[in-house]
Amino acid sequence: MWRRGSLLLIAAVAVVVAAVAAEPVSTLEGPLRPVTVPPRDRGHAVDLPDTDPRVQRRVTGWAPEQIAVALSAAPSSVWVSWVTGDSQMGADVKPLDPKTVASVVRYGLAADSLVHQATGDSLVYSQLYPFDGLQNYTSGIIHHVRLQGLQPGTEYFYQCGDPAIPAAMSDVHAFRTMPAVGPTSYPERIAVVGDLGLTYNTTSTVDHMASNRPDLMLLVGDVTYANLYLTNGTGADCYSCSFAKSTPIHETYQPRWDYWGRYMEPVTSTIPMMVVEGNHEIELQIDNKTFASYSSRFAFPSTESESFSPFYYSFDVGGIHFIMLAAYADYNKSGEQYRWLEKDLAKVDRSVTPWLIGGWHAPWYTTYRAHYRDAECMRVAMEELLYSYSIDIIFTGHMKL
Ligand SMILES: *[C@@H]1O[C@H](CO)[C@@H](O)[C@H](O)[C@H]1NC(C)=O
Ligand SMILES: *[C@@H]1O[C@H](CO)[C@@H](O)[C@H](O)[C@H]1NC(C)=O
Ligand SMILES: *[C@@H]1O[C@H](CO)[C@@H](O)[C@H](O)[C@H]1NC(C)=O
Ligand SMILES: *[C@@H]1O[C@H](CO)[C@@H](O)[C@H](O)[C@H]1NC(C)=O
Ligand SMILES: *[C@@H]1O[C@H](CO)[C@@H](O)[C@H](O)[C@H]1NC(C)=O
Repeated sequence: MWRRGSLLLIAAVAVVVAAVAAEPVSTLEGPLRPVTVPPRDRGHAVDLPDTDPRVQRRVTGWAPEQIAVALSAAPSSVWVSWVTGDSQMGADVKPLDPKTVASVVRYGLAADSLVHQATGDSLVYSQLYPFDGLQNYTSGIIHHVRLQGLQPGTEYFYQCGDPAIPAAMSDVHAFRTMPAVGPTSYPERIAVVGDLGLTYNTTSTVDHMASNRPDLMLLVGDVTYANLYLTNGTGADCYSCSFAKSTPIHETYQPRWDYWGRYMEPVTSTIPMMVVEGNHEIELQIDNKTFASYSSRFAFPSTESESFSPFYYSFDVGGIHFIMLAAYADYNKSGEQYRWLEKDLAKVDRSVTPWLIGGWHAPWYTTYRAHYRDAECMRVAMEELLYSYSIDIIFTGHMKL
């Protein structure tokens, strides 16, 4: 939880190999023997500063930025998300009116033939601290649009924005839908990453991941580490000692989320990314509100998978049923997540999706001292249920060397 690092696994569904060498290896060179990394100096990961061109706002007016694609529950549908307008940080911040800019995606099978159009919703969120000396944040307008009726395994070109406002449509980007649901079709490569952050080491992880051309990216929690910053934008290297004792909660510096969205755009606008929350996304603020940024910025197949929650959901990709679970929401046997999981698992037809793969943030088994048994209560509540449905693979993050 304290120090940023990054973990990258490129999974070829059945073969999972952790890349631990200085020069990351590709699973294309595998299968390789699993390696247990010996204890060593955790090093010092350095964040990209706000002066780095990759994190700065490059658009003007109402032009879209931080464009990202996420999957819906089935390969016939995806979500496109982006941000318009600038965020504000400081005193007396005034939330933008989300209705100022429409949420439109034009898409089609060729860059010069964006003949389909979908519209969606927009929102803003704020991160407020009613404490002397702390600054407030309010986001740009965050748009989410769901495209439906897509062909599986097909490249689509798209442009997002508001066609009624001059220069408020994005460049044309492209993504590929997932293979059709069924036991004989699979994506070639799935990148699984956790605890990503926005350090120089993040950039080597993301470069390596992108060079492997994954079809899909899973981000199993801990995204930007904006909660390791004071509201004046100064990094807090020591989580337990840098924050003012006079305020009852630890603040965050929300512009780091915008930095992350901009830095990641070349990847997220092309490769669908599925995110599930980690402890760094909790971000407590006024009125005990939590997870405002996480819940607002990403699109999740929550309605489509009937979880109705941004914290846990499921989706199908070829012969795989993925379940993304919440390690930081109620998971006990009488809670809603558990009831949803029971129903979701009961619907899985292993003759259609032979593989059942799970992802969440905190692992149930670890010898790592700093997080030893962090998720023990979740394990006790849910392990039996997952075993009873013979889950094949689980991906988690949270452990940093
Ligand atoms: C931040 O927002 C809270 C809640 O509205 C308010 O109490 C506080 O004074 C604001 N802080 C600043 C610096 O404007
Ligand atoms: C992390 O990045 C730093 C430069 O900021 C570099 O010196 C170090 O070798 C990198 N660590 C790893 C494990 O790649
Ligand atoms: C931010 O606040 C901290 C703690 O009060 C202080 O040490 C630091 O210098 C401040 N940074 C800026 C840029 O004002
Ligand atoms: C926030 O949570 C704390 C601890 O559970 C509680 O004491 C407090 O009353 C809550 N405040 C609000 C505004 O809900
Ligand atoms: C499970 O969570 C629910 C809702 O938060 C709570 O009412 C209940 O007491 C919890 N049960 C156990 C056994 O912890």
